[in-house]
Amino acid sequence: MTKIDFCGFNAIIEAIKKIETDTILFVVDHQVLSQYKDVFPLLETDYGKKVIVWRAPNGEKVKNFEEYQKCCEFFLEKGIHRNSHLVVCGGGALSDFGGFVASTLLRGINWSIIPTTLLSMIDASIGGKTGINTKSGKNLVGTFHHPQNVWINSEFVHTLPEREMKSSMGEMIKYAFLSEDIHKRCLETFNLNEIIKVAANYKYEITNDDFKEKGNRKILNLGHTFGHALEYIYNLSHGESVYWGMVMIFFLYDRSDLLAEMVKIRDIFLIEKKDAPWLNKEIPIDRIMELIEKDKKASGKDSIELIVIEEIGQPTIAKKTFSDCRKLLESHANELKKFTL
Ligand SMILES: NC(=O)c1ccc[n+]([C@@H]2O[C@H](COP(=O)([O-])OP(=O)(O)OC[C@H]3O[C@@H](n4cnc5c(N)ncnc54)[C@H](O)[C@@H]3O)[C@@H](O)[C@H]2O)c1
Ligand SMILES: [Zn+2]
Repeated sequence: MTKIDFCGFNAIIEAIKKIETDTILFVVDHQVLSQYKDVFPLLETDYGKKVIVWRAPNGEKVKNFEEYQKCCEFFLEKGIHRNSHLVVCGGGALSDFGGFVASTLLRGINWSIIPTTLLSMIDASIGGKTGINTKSGKNLVGTFHHPQNVWINSEFVHTLPEREMKSSMGEMIKYAFLSEDIHKRCLETFNLNEIIKVAANYKYEITNDDFKEKGNRKILNLGHTFGHALEYIYNLSHGESVYWGMVMIFFLYDRSDLLAEMVKIRDIFLIEKKDAPWLNKEIPIDRIMELIEKDKKASGKDSIELIVIEEIGQPTIAKKTFSDCRKLLESHANELKKFTL
């Protein structure tokens, strides 16, 4: 079971000292760490243990077989054992990668995460999904391997580039539709630190109940079914695509109430109004369906499970055949192409 702590830089270092191991394997975003060296001397501290550091290429560049091989060979050459503990410090790409290394190295060693992006704090570091990308698609090789600790310090978000910050907001808004509590906190007393806490805890609870995504965890896919297709077609960031994926699903289900709510929440998160990527173009239904079918078939499914929102905080799963999903798009295509939010 993962332990999530919301703590300062010193507390993280103290917690690492207390891990029951004599060997720490750091997998780190070196660029980020060098920015924080004065306040967070992660690599300069004496832990009273053997420390081996692997500096990762940043972002998505790390999530491939070549880097996986390099990293495993590097640690094995340095002499590690099954009780070594791997600590990832970086964004979601690095924790996906580091978790995959931890789950396979010596048939699986313990690991922990220090997430450094907003998205990794509220999403990627929680739930135990690990993975790397392949030529056939993202995250197609991976494992489920829970980290022992996730140490969240929201101060890291201060240096995030604007694009990264904006991209995380799509997932943040998603939580405001899934959970009444998060929705209320966003509207009533918006405080980013608080929202990070409740969002991280929300994902934690859902994924603990449903580790391997057989049931309730599926609701976290709100906005993702169409979102993944939109991400690919219009070259959007993941967070943007989740945002437009939600807009699309609310539109297709004729939910003007949820669309109005979206505008409210978007304003609170200071997300500027932008035209929908599909605006004034033909809706590429064939391409959308092709991408959705590919996605679903990769997970062994022959139908689509759309996550829809009954009321704020009440998501449900609507099962659709591929042809029903196509019909839903076709019946709304003419209005949709004129619609933006
Ligand atoms: N396992 C899961 O459940 C899950 C869930 C959602 C997303 N993901 C994965 O997460 C990845 C996206 O993660 P992400 O959005 O965190 O981006 P990222 O990990 O790709 O990092 C984006 C960039 O931000 C930089 N960065 C990291 N922390 C920084 C900081 N504090 N200040 C300045 N720059 C910083 C990184 O070096 C990188 O260049 C994707 O690969 C996605 O598949 C996994
Ligand atoms: Zn997502």
